[in-house]
Amino acid sequence: MGKGLKAFATAPGKIILVGEHFVVHGESAIVMAINRYVTVMVEGRSDEVIHISSDLGISGQYNKDRFHGPKDHQKTLDPIKISIQSVLEALRENKGLDVHISSTIPVAVGLGSSGALAVTTVAAVGRYFNHEFQAEELLKLSLKAERYVHINPSGVDQAISTYGGIIIYNKKTGFTRLEAPSPIPIVIGNTGIERNTGRLVDQVRKLKQKYPQTVDLIFQSAGELALQAIDALQQSNITSLGNLMNINHGLLMAIGVSHEALDRLVHIAKQNGALGAKLTGAGGGGCMIALVTQEQSDQIAEKLQLGGATSIIAEKVNTGVRSWISE
Ligand code: PMV
Repeated sequence: MGKGLKAFATAPGKIILVGEHFVVHGESAIVMAINRYVTVMVEGRSDEVIHISSDLGISGQYNKDRFHGPKDHQKTLDPIKISIQSVLEALRENKGLDVHISSTIPVAVGLGSSGALAVTTVAAVGRYFNHEFQAEELLKLSLKAERYVHINPSGVDQAISTYGGIIIYNKKTGFTRLEAPSPIPIVIGNTGIERNTGRLVDQVRKLKQKYPQTVDLIFQSAGELALQAIDALQQSNITSLGNLMNINHGLLMAIGVSHEALDRLVHIAKQNGALGAKLTGAGGGGCMIALVTQEQSDQIAEKLQLGGATSIIAEKVNTGVRSWISE
């Protein structure tokens, strides 16, 4: 490939419509790709250095495996380097690269930014070497970086960034694509409160150990709820989906993963006419989502802002990762 060519890839982030936490215990979750994206640009270098930079001002470079750059940037950059390396190894290439990341997905609030970043990096580096990975291989390679970030990832974030649309995830049956004909307008309220997914998952496990009969019934109920939500989506019954999201938030509160700030935003959204509202992702902070009509979205976004959140108007996107070359 001649000097000056640039390879790009872009992939969407995600929200969990229903089923977070319960999915860890064998029930189904429904995950939807949203119109917030990570974009990666790759250019060749004349040496063997891998240089990574981002719009957030994080940068550093790897000479073989040695990192050069601000120490506190390394933790963020290591998984990206793992993604790049996994592609170089898969394609038996050994070339220096400049990799630049830009993103419209807020980081570390459960909107799938690290999954989208891994998928995009693999696709862009592959494209630079004129190789378009099939979805399965792309998922396999991008999971290597995710394993470094989360010890035991389900892989659902990578899957949704790869395929787009809506995916049902269940530990036993894996990923199933769900065709939902209607648009699904969502307003996201970000509390800005950082949380730790692993700690919250552990907290739920302990609660289940302590009160097995009671908590098992909540899990069963969440499993049933996910099945009804799948039905609602397939039939474009948005009103029913909204009701189920409201119940889902109640179940998440019951297992102790909500947060005062999330409950307040959920309340604001519902008071202002949202069809349904719930926390999304691990809880304990991070984001909530409100299912709205197209006409309501601006107003509800504004109300959530007034309630202290950063709000994002989002919608389902059906396309997953894309890559291309530009001169
Ligand atoms: O923090 P997030 O948005 O990646 O959500 C985690 C979802 C959980 O169900 C809580 C954990 C998991 O691994 O499925």
